Amino acid sequence: MKQEIMTIISQHQLAPRIFQMTLTGDLVNEMEKPGQFIHIKVPRADMLLRRPISINQINKESKTCTIIYRTEGDGTKVFSELKTGDSLDVMGPLGNGFDVDCLSAGQKAYVIGGGIGIPPMYELSKQLKQKGIEVVHFLGYASKEVAYFQDEFIALGDTRFATDDGSFGVEGNVGNLLLEAVKNEQPDAVYACGANGMLKMVAQVFSDNPNVFLSLEQRMACGMGACYACVCHVPDDETGTKSVKVCDEGPIFRASEVVL
Ligand code: FAD
Ligand code: FES
Repeated sequence: MKQEIMTIISQHQLAPRIFQMTLTGDLVNEMEKPGQFIHIKVPRADMLLRRPISINQINKESKTCTIIYRTEGDGTKVFSELKTGDSLDVMGPLGNGFDVDCLSAGQKAYVIGGGIGIPPMYELSKQLKQKGIEVVHFLGYASKEVAYFQDEFIALGDTRFATDDGSFGVEGNVGNLLLEAVKNEQPDAVYACGANGMLKMVAQVFSDNPNVFLSLEQRMACGMGACYACVCHVPDDETGTKSVKVCDEGPIFRASEVVL
């Protein structure tokens, strides 16, 4: 993990409230694993806490990385107002990242993303494909209006869509797509990032599969294991005192390792 002032080389809007930003700097040399995140200082003196944002793409040759974020509060709003050439104080890469080594060429992975949980799944899918693993994507959005990155995923493999209002793909959540898919086959590994409800459903559908990897989201402060702001409970803990820190022991856990 390093800290660096990175330079914004592009920023554009993908959908209402959703932005893609590309940054350059030596920190990219440290980025390896899909699912890791960067911790970005908001360039405003009154905002002390950094904002955790997943790495969407790593490009070592151009020494760039990309993030995709949705404006929620003041911090992400400030990010959305930055321009090419502006700089950002970035710490990273943080977190453990998705385990891609549990699979080998010829095996099949389900890659599941919901809403603003979709960005890290793109780098994951790229790396799985590079290893010769067949990827099937299940992507859920609120509506067609806020859908993004569809073509990028389609270029990597079979991609199935769901929207809450049925305006694009199957109506409902990605659970409907998954229940249909598992009638015909079982994947060798499952990777998911999205709202807690979606992660719970993924864990249920694939309860017999030991390779189910979930990316958890918790409010964070330090982002590197020092403050315990981001803890999550673990199963079979009768005392209720055991926990894991999402920032440095996660954000990716096997479904069997955490209580959602
Ligand atoms: P505010 O609500 O004003 O933030 C207030 C405080 O709460 C800040 O400290 C903020 O960091 C924290 N906070 C608010 N919401 C969240 C949240 N959902 N998760 C963690 N902290 C939060 N969002 C994206 O749009 N794209 C991503 O790729 C992405 N990746 C993430 C990866 C990880 C590991 C985590 C934990 C969160 C990720 N998020 C992502 C959520 C993102 O961090 C929050 O939306 C963002 O911090 C909100 O900041 P704000 O100032 O706009 O909102
Ligand atoms: Fe400080 Fe996780 S955010 S320990």
